[in-house]
Amino acid sequence: MSARLRARKPALAAMRRRRAAACLLATTLVMTLAASSPAPPVPPPDAGAGATPMVVFGYNDLGMHCMNEDFSEIMILPPFNTLHAQVIDRSEREPKIVKSGVTVEYRIPGNTHSADKTNFWKYWQPVFGPPKPPNVGLTGNGLSGQMLPTGDNDWQVTGIPITPTDDAGRDNPYPLAVITVKRRGEVLATTQAVVPVSTEINCHLCHNTPGISPALDLLRAHDRRHGTNLEDEQPVLCAKCHADNALGLPGDPQLPNLSSAMHLAHAPRMGGLPFEEACYACHPGARTKCQRDVHFDRGIGCTDCHGDMEAVGDPNRNPWLDEPRCGDCHRRPGFEFEQPGTLYRNSVGHKKVHCAACHGSPHAITPTVTEVDNLQAQTLQGHPGVIDTCTVCHRDGPPGQFFHKVND
Ligand code: HEC
Ligand code: HEC
Ligand code: HEC
Ligand code: HEC
Ligand code: HEC
Ligand code: HEC
Ligand code: HEC
Repeated sequence: MSARLRARKPALAAMRRRRAAACLLATTLVMTLAASSPAPPVPPPDAGAGATPMVVFGYNDLGMHCMNEDFSEIMILPPFNTLHAQVIDRSEREPKIVKSGVTVEYRIPGNTHSADKTNFWKYWQPVFGPPKPPNVGLTGNGLSGQMLPTGDNDWQVTGIPITPTDDAGRDNPYPLAVITVKRRGEVLATTQAVVPVSTEINCHLCHNTPGISPALDLLRAHDRRHGTNLEDEQPVLCAKCHADNALGLPGDPQLPNLSSAMHLAHAPRMGGLPFEEACYACHPGARTKCQRDVHFDRGIGCTDCHGDMEAVGDPNRNPWLDEPRCGDCHRRPGFEFEQPGTLYRNSVGHKKVHCAACHGSPHAITPTVTEVDNLQAQTLQGHPGVIDTCTVCHRDGPPGQFFHKVND
């Protein structure tokens, strides 16, 4: 463990004690949630070490995708989920990353349609131009279909328009996709991976003027404070004026980008929230708890990795691209972490195996406190946590010393 990481330990221990005190509230929340949670996940037919000629790992690009619940007034983020899969042929003496010659299909049992669960398609036209058919998202993909090679050793489908409402009408921010690898109809590998999505963006905690919606409340505040006329321009796409890398929109270069505007302006307003983690006022959330990973379990929270509201709102940051890195805190002799200038989600280690294939998505670094995010590792190697069982990929067992580097 690095000196920097060790130096954090006393602070992290104090944080853990504070968390224990808040636990009672958390237990009540969990119990309320349990009453409406969907049935526990069913593992796929045996996909464990050696059971199929290939092995597939599924992972989401983000730990959580937020979307607005209602698009009639404001549009911060549309339904847009991106799922990756890495396929490894383990039938030969040496594992081989598979980049062509198979089909990789995804489907999300229990969450197969969206157009009846959100009004996104109704308000698509004024904001994004000619609409796609119902249940088809911004990049032309639906709730099931094929994943395509990325050119970076894995496969992906972008912009799945999934909502957190399952087909039975229950709230589930952690639905499971089934990913199947086939060649000429024969199933070569299968797995399940979480497609996280939540509408728990709690602007109403503070934007709650009686008689009007939270969105109208904040639009009126915007108009009053900044001389705009957003109330008459609904539905308002914030990124029309405030640059947003999440949507790839440049905004007006004279204005602060959306992340900086939001975090800096709200930094002094965060007192008096009914829960401990202030970031959960706008990020999902006190109920969803999108940070569900091994760090959460060890008492490490948003600000330990991201810094506070002012730090996130720093106008010199490039939002969505300048993010924390595993290598900022973790040091271990002989280990390499992210590639320089590359996000965790795009980085690879151990001969081009993606970090997320072995460790899980950001904010869901395994072992997680959620059962569904542990399912893949559990099924493949019999225990949750990082994929540390060589025979998941190496047919004949470890061929030599394990290395945690890109090119060795
Ligand atoms: C912890 C309280 C709190 C939360 C949560 C909150 N706001 Fe605010 N927000 C405020 C306050 C206070 C103001 C100032 C209101 C005024 O001047 O009338 C404000 C103002 C705004 C404004 C006006 C522009 C400005 O100068 O800041 C916008 C836009 C805004 N909020 C958007 C949002 C959105 C979007 C969310 C949810 C993602 C949100 N707020 C969540 C407290 C909050
Ligand atoms: C028509 C252009 C336009 C749109 C659309 C727009 N804004 Fe703004 N916004 C502005 C302008 C202009 C300012 C004032 C900037 C300044 O003073 O530097 C501003 C300021 C803000 C601020 C305060 C920044 C600060 O540092 O005080 C926040 C927060 C904000 N906008 C959030 C939003 C959100 C959230 C949306 C979508 C609901 C949105 N804006 C849509 C033009 C726009
Ligand atoms: C008042 C609402 C609000 C609060 C509170 C808030 N955020 Fe955000 N945050 C947003 C919104 C809105 C976006 C989406 C901006 C966009 O689409 O570009 C965002 C995006 C982000 C991003 C991705 C974009 C980037 O800048 O890299 C990070 C990281 C982030 N928030 C971290 C945090 C952390 C950490 C906290 C707590 C210290 C926090 N946020 C609290 C509203 C908020
Ligand atoms: C252990 C460190 C860690 C903690 C704790 C953490 N994050 Fe992150 N966060 C990251 C990393 C790393 C990334 C960038 C992922 C990548 O490079 O692909 C990220 C990215 C993000 C993004 C951008 C979208 C994305 O997923 O890439 C948002 C928004 C965000 N974090 C919000 C939060 C919030 C809110 C919390 C607390 C609830 C939190 N984070 C806790 C490490 C952390
Ligand atoms: C802000 C510093 C920080 C960042 C950034 C960070 N970690 Fe950690 N991580 C820690 C700390 C502290 C622990 C707990 C160590 C302990 O309990 O001994 C930890 C624990 C872990 C563990 C559990 C290790 C064990 O001994 O069981 C794993 C796995 C892990 N981190 C992976 C990651 C990955 C992957 C990333 C990047 C996506 C990351 N970390 C980013 C600080 C960080
Ligand atoms: C082939 C699977 C695999 C790949 C790919 C992989 N890791 Fe790991 N990682 C491991 C194993 C196994 C460990 C050791 C766990 C232990 O200590 O028992 C580990 C440990 C770690 C740790 C904790 C180190 C510590 O402080 O002890 C971090 C952080 C980490 N990996 C990040 C990454 C990043 C970033 C990438 C991509 C650049 C990556 N890993 C790629 C399997 C993998
Ligand atoms: C997620 C899949 C995966 C896991 C798990 C994994 N490896 Fe590998 N490993 C690979 C791939 C892919 C290669 C590249 C094979 C090639 O093209 O030469 C490789 C190559 C190697 C090599 C280089 C020799 C060779 O066969 O090319 C060694 C040594 C190795 N791995 C050791 C290990 C050990 C030890 C473990 C268990 C701790 C492990 N690996 C776990 C995927 C994996």
